[in-house]
Amino acid sequence: MPANTIEHNRSRFNFEGIDAIWLFGYGSLIYKVDFPFLEQRPAAIRGWARRFWQGSHDHRGTPEAPGRVVTLIEQPGAVCRGMAFRVSPKVFEYLDVREKNGYLRFSTRMTFDDGSHADGLVYIATEDNEAFLGEAPEADIARQIALASGPSGPNSDYLLRLAESLRALGDDCTHTFSIETYLKTQASTGS
Ligand code: SIN
Repeated sequence: MPANTIEHNRSRFNFEGIDAIWLFGYGSLIYKVDFPFLEQRPAAIRGWARRFWQGSHDHRGTPEAPGRVVTLIEQPGAVCRGMAFRVSPKVFEYLDVREKNGYLRFSTRMTFDDGSHADGLVYIATEDNEAFLGEAPEADIARQIALASGPSGPNSDYLLRLAESLRALGDDCTHTFSIETYLKTQASTGS
């Protein structure tokens, strides 16, 4: 699948007759909310784990030196906490452009903190997209993040702001927190 997913996403869902739809954010969509929303609620989805396995050639890196951003990997029993936004379908015209580097919209069932559920959409960059970088040791991921920067800013900002948001949401994402620790340790020791 080509890395640019704009056209693919536009043909995936028919929003006709729908006034509002839930969007589940688990990465930058939690803290960089540059789109209008009707309502916002912390939520979680099951069976998916957050991983810094997607390349960023357009936002937090360049084609020559891609950064690393999060995607979701199927993992039975995993719980991924994030933020749900109820948005107008029009918002996806913008989000499809923002998330164009490999992310496709999928349907998901989300659970709110009061135990109630709703169906919505989530952007996932699957392994078959050209920008997918895959698994690597967390210390190496931290080194790559420390060096990368793109039009949206340093890749380290993405990691640090996400870690801060996940702590605020009470998420125990050991993968993100461990890369954050490596990043800070490597910076202070020059390793
Ligand atoms: C998301 O935040 O839900 C998708 C990944 C990202 O844009 O960082």
